[in-house]
Amino acid sequence: MKGIILAGGSGSRLYPITKVYSKQLTVIYDKPLIYYPLSILMLGGITEILIISNEETIPLYKQLFSNGSHLGLSIEYAVQPAPNGIAEAFIIGEKFINNESVVLILGDNIFYGSLEFFYSGIRNNTGATIFGYQVTDPERYGIVEFDKNGKAISIEEKPKQPKSNYAVPGIYIYNNEVVKISKNLTPSARGELEITDVNKKYLNEGKLKVEKIGRGIAWLDTGTPEALLQASNFFGVIEERQGLKVACIEEISYYMKYISQIQFEKLINSIPKSLYRDYLEKVLRESLNQ
Ligand code: TTP
Repeated sequence: MKGIILAGGSGSRLYPITKVYSKQLTVIYDKPLIYYPLSILMLGGITEILIISNEETIPLYKQLFSNGSHLGLSIEYAVQPAPNGIAEAFIIGEKFINNESVVLILGDNIFYGSLEFFYSGIRNNTGATIFGYQVTDPERYGIVEFDKNGKAISIEEKPKQPKSNYAVPGIYIYNNEVVKISKNLTPSARGELEITDVNKKYLNEGKLKVEKIGRGIAWLDTGTPEALLQASNFFGVIEERQGLKVACIEEISYYMKYISQIQFEKLINSIPKSLYRDYLEKVLRESLNQ
């Protein structure tokens, strides 16, 4: 299973923050936003990851993660010259995906809580698996309609009259057919290759599973200044209370055994003196005392 983080986009709603800076590098509490979706892929057992962004931002991601080997990952990079739609990720990523299945996560989507919905989606996917999450503003999202038995029967992108409150979050699992399907798409009225059109194709062929995500999971969107502040406050509260970090990619690498204890120590030593380093030293100490 390969993983793609789509981290381009225009970020126009966050202007002027995004005038010279990519949205996915903005700070959520104590780390860059992109750490959160990256950590979800890592926890899902995905170690081969492609980061797609615009030309100016790719060098910054390279500075942040290089080739990922210090985290036990293989991270590659590709340019999306313009925000031509989410489904373009599978065309840009064709070579990277090769003949495997793929998880796509949007670089500004954050999930917090038990990730069993994601793990079982990965385990059980045959065609496409996407998720449904209740929101109060369904007209902003791709919306799924379910029948009485909970089976998905329609998906509409940003409907004016939504048929349900179930939005499709930015985490999608596909078999290898997604590449061919994306290549055959035509741009929508807004000029984008729509992920909703990909999902509709799977739905029409009876190959789409839509799993509802319960209220125990937080799905945070970070597209607006208010949402950024809320997400920072949310993770600030949780980290303060528990003394545990969320989306600490170095800790996750060690926990998932992507790196050995010696590699973890080396990694810690490469980090400047900071609260973040203190935290990792504590993680190491506690793992040795167990
Ligand atoms: P959007 O919600 O469309 O966000 P945006 O970054 O374009 O911002 P705004 O709406 O304020 O202008 O996209 C969701 C995520 O997907 C976001 O992380 C950007 C990314 N994305 C791309 O990388 N390429 C694309 O072509 C699109 C449409 C989105």
